[in-house]
Amino acid sequence: MDDFRREGLIITLDGPAGSGKSSTAKAVAKRLAFRHLDSGALYRALTLGLLRSGVVESDWEALSEQEFANLDIDLQATETGFQVLIGGEVVDSELRTAMVTDRVSFVSSLAACRQSILGLQRKAGKDGRLVADGRDMGTVIFPEAALKIYLIADLEERAIRRLREVGEDSPDGFRLAQQARALDTRDQSDSQRAISPLKMAEDAIELDTTRLAFEEQVQAVVDLAHRLTLF
Ligand code: CDP
Repeated sequence: MDDFRREGLIITLDGPAGSGKSSTAKAVAKRLAFRHLDSGALYRALTLGLLRSGVVESDWEALSEQEFANLDIDLQATETGFQVLIGGEVVDSELRTAMVTDRVSFVSSLAACRQSILGLQRKAGKDGRLVADGRDMGTVIFPEAALKIYLIADLEERAIRRLREVGEDSPDGFRLAQQARALDTRDQSDSQRAISPLKMAEDAIELDTTRLAFEEQVQAVVDLAHRLTLF
């Protein structure tokens, strides 16, 4: 592939919870030697920062952009992507605890919260060669991205995949329904909020991964990227 044409390229992957955005984005970035930006991790870091800050939850809604900025969330570029920092310290698995997951959708619906990490995300894309995943990558953060994918999958399939990620390979009907409900609640909240709701960009390509194996969905995105840079 022509490296020159890849230079400024940004690929966005948006979609509902558990649709496989982050794992697909990471694998696609690796195949293309791009960096991967997991924007959900930033919202999770803001949520974790708030939980650690001691500010009572009922006051979160009234926080200003500056107060969110004071949580000191940052990104540090690595060879393959970005590490997320809170107050200069790398955070990773702490971002995916139930305490954070249960609150992140509310936190990310706040305008001041979103505004506080807007510049950070755009900066991550300034040199191109980026695969960014989230909810508003193609609509708000990188509207000029050359390739926008909207990943979807049936709710039950997404619940199965999410449980598999945490080692539950054969969940019973109750666990499956519980997980599906949790994903659906977050999707409703993410798509109904006023600011930067989860929605497909007009120029995005929808990719339904329900019946695709992981490698197939990675290949589908890589093929689209190739097509874009070859012609
Ligand atoms: O991986 P999963 O789909 O569970 O979620 P995530 O990508 O880690 O994002 C967690 C939450 O952050 C989402 O449910 C959204 O509420 C929020 N988010 C957002 O509002 N905008 C983004 N660009 C990315 C995530």
